Amino acid sequence: MLKKCFLLLCLFPLLLQAQQNTEYPNDYLSPAFHAGRRAAVREMMPKHSVALFFASQVRNRNNDVDFVYAQNKNFYYLTGLEEPNSLLLIFKEPVTILDKTGTEFLFVQPRNPAREMWTGKILGVDGVKETCKIENVFTHDKFNYATIDMSKVDSVMTTFYTEGILQKYYGRGGVDPLSRMAQVVDSAMTLQKKPNASRTITNIIRGLRAVKQPEEIAILEKVVAMSVQGHNEVMKATKPNMTEYQAQAIMEYMFKKNGSEFVGYPSINGSGENTCILHYESNQRLMKDGDLLLSDCAAEYHGYSADVTRTIPVNGKFSPEQKIIYELVLMAQDSAFLQCKSGNASNEPHKAALRVITEGLKKLGIITSDAEVRNYFPHGTSHGLGLDVHDPNPPKLEPGAVFTVEPGIYIPPGSKCDQKWWNIGVRIEDDILITATGYKNLSAGSPRTVAEIEKMAKQKSIFK
Ligand code: GLY
Ligand code: MN
Ligand code: MN
Repeated sequence: MLKKCFLLLCLFPLLLQAQQNTEYPNDYLSPAFHAGRRAAVREMMPKHSVALFFASQVRNRNNDVDFVYAQNKNFYYLTGLEEPNSLLLIFKEPVTILDKTGTEFLFVQPRNPAREMWTGKILGVDGVKETCKIENVFTHDKFNYATIDMSKVDSVMTTFYTEGILQKYYGRGGVDPLSRMAQVVDSAMTLQKKPNASRTITNIIRGLRAVKQPEEIAILEKVVAMSVQGHNEVMKATKPNMTEYQAQAIMEYMFKKNGSEFVGYPSINGSGENTCILHYESNQRLMKDGDLLLSDCAAEYHGYSADVTRTIPVNGKFSPEQKIIYELVLMAQDSAFLQCKSGNASNEPHKAALRVITEGLKKLGIITSDAEVRNYFPHGTSHGLGLDVHDPNPPKLEPGAVFTVEPGIYIPPGSKCDQKWWNIGVRIEDDILITATGYKNLSAGSPRTVAEIEKMAKQKSIFK
């Protein structure tokens, strides 16, 4: 096991440099991947149906500053396109729109040189055809004039996100492209008269996204490796009198240094009592000698997120009580790992972890009944991982499923137990891939045991 970890640690730099030999990254999902996903969706669609997918809107942050654009993940999964104001239609049977016959049609925003000078290139019809290798691409203004023969279409399927866009923008009028498209979708496609099968299409796409293709696994391996580097650097650099936001800065520096575009979710770096706040994001506290630091942080790369948590002693050495709770969580995680195998129900890892934590807390006298365990371990152990940090997970584990295993124990001050346990919050979270023969822990390159963590804390950080 140790040997395996060492090998992984040696491989990380190679893994991370793989995409850096060209002027821009060249390891994006391929057009063939997206085409394959569209074909898989169409294959599962009911007869005589059409599915609609809107791109994410641009969201305003304040005044004239927008949030950094983040594409709708279903739209990205099916196209690879990262531009707003776009609409994808997939028909079960071929139809003719604007003199083109086919099953896939993409409406995109037009080129706009004046805007492009400020915010960068818009692909436009030719660029999208070239980049996404989709044949029937039009600018979205054409959608106004498109006649779509809906006489043979029985159901219009919109994901919940697309439905929201339609509700929000329908009838708004104006020149806003989304309003126009929503208007046309709703009237020309007689959305209100056709049964809308949102649940059907949502389930189809969730089912597909739950089992990762080899190209997705390759990206997930990279993003997890970047995240592991962040955690390991924080282990080396953390010391008393550093702030939580400085730990965050080190973590996110390592992500960016390796090419990550975003964090997968807001970084959680809680020390002391903040270790007991599950999604603590403000990261403002000064860390003290004797505290634990719980870091739940991960990078995002080419749309895919990792999700890794490590809990470490700020001064480099666990106190006796911290060690007891830490090792109980570790034991729970190890027993959950044993359930990570193809064919098992996806809640088996949680059942195993919950059993271990319940028994352990009873033995320590922290709880007296099984029901009380939810006071200290209030969340599930696993969720799928992929384009979303909380991605779909298949009901039964199968090769290609990627998910987290993340048991935790949180004992905030004031808890009904001996005060010596207060302020101890521990979560250990790893990213697991189910394989044909068992599982692979993608985040195994970051130490998990007390001895390994204390050893890494003694290593020199690039920030010390
Ligand atoms: N980082 C959020 C979670 O662990 O689910
Ligand atoms: Mn998680
Ligand atoms: Mn997490």
